[in-house]
Amino acid sequence: MTKETGNHFDVIVIGGGAIGLATAYHLNKRSCKTLVLEQFNFKNQLGSSAGVSRQYRIPYPEEYMVQMALDAQPFWNELQNRTPRKLLDKVGTLWFGDPAVHSTEGNIAEAEQALKALNVPYTTLTSKEIEGKYHFKNLPDTYTGLFQADGASIDFKATIETLYEAAEKSAHITLKEESPVTDIKQVGKLFEVVTPKGTFISEKLILVPGPYIDNVINLLNFRIEATYWNMSSAYFKKTDPSMQYPTWFVFQNAIAQNGNQFYGFPGVVWDHPEYIRVAPDFVIDPLSDPDQRSLVPNSQELAYTSEWIKNHMTGLDPVPHFTSTCLIALSKIANKELLIDFAPPYVPNNKNIVVYATGWAAKFTPFLGKILTDLSLDGHSDFDITPFKLGYNFFKAI
Ligand code: BEZ
Repeated sequence: MTKETGNHFDVIVIGGGAIGLATAYHLNKRSCKTLVLEQFNFKNQLGSSAGVSRQYRIPYPEEYMVQMALDAQPFWNELQNRTPRKLLDKVGTLWFGDPAVHSTEGNIAEAEQALKALNVPYTTLTSKEIEGKYHFKNLPDTYTGLFQADGASIDFKATIETLYEAAEKSAHITLKEESPVTDIKQVGKLFEVVTPKGTFISEKLILVPGPYIDNVINLLNFRIEATYWNMSSAYFKKTDPSMQYPTWFVFQNAIAQNGNQFYGFPGVVWDHPEYIRVAPDFVIDPLSDPDQRSLVPNSQELAYTSEWIKNHMTGLDPVPHFTSTCLIALSKIANKELLIDFAPPYVPNNKNIVVYATGWAAKFTPFLGKILTDLSLDGHSDFDITPFKLGYNFFKAI
């Protein structure tokens, strides 16, 4: 098959972020003539693929999520073989804080149970051990922690660039940017996807537009219930150049109306190596529409982060630098962080439309591309998507 033979494709992938490119990567392996449509430019900073680092972690309170993180590992190894750049810096995952707190990331005690059930090795830590081994300070005595050595800091920029270069080189993949989808028509078994750059035809659609999910699925007469977080982030200068942290997440009860969870990274060679990234895992004002987002981080969220660093971290100056934002859709459905499914049954040809939406999925990038490809081409995937299915949690668009 050739790259550009008119407007007909086997599969059109809508969304050219990390997950869209990972899907193209796997469609290429199946020799599928694929078009990837990106509404902005590839490698943009306007969606959930913004920023340069992410956490790969295995602890989750649900066993199926632990299994998914484990299953993702060989796909990371395979992608790693395509680039000399180190994609995962295996510094480990440190989870610590109040063991009773349930956050958007889960709960420490439940994660321990899930790790045990799947025989994943980890060590438990007391408050004093967390301070002694990992440079935190002034932690309440009641805090506990777990350390899981396979956790990593993901070079997300290198990941996206590796996937993008693979797509560019492929004879089967066509990449089109500045191509927002304005209409999707169904003509018999075929989809006609309308963009300002032309109308493209395919038998199958894979929809991965990140936080812009509703803009696309509304065209097929359904929508999901999501809230949108414009997440702030900043770098903090090391006052001790040798200071190093693992990837970490602190579980704490909210203070008044505001979140109180933070997460951070090691210093990384690929971005501001003299600095360390620390970020709040909460937003003060969730958005009801992705168009409400701003590229300016919320100053109060950054002020809380600085305060936490001042009180609880060593070797860092608490003044934020190199700030950024990342926009994410979060499912409003309890216990369903990721939604992976076919379109609802009332949508014509629904089994030819595969959707991934919501949640923190960067750690699954190459594996999710494989799952979406298998669902699209085979109608099923070896990885059981039952926990991620929309069920009755879709709504007719009005
Ligand atoms: C995650 O591992 O899923 C995650 C970590 C920090 C912030 C948000 C999500």
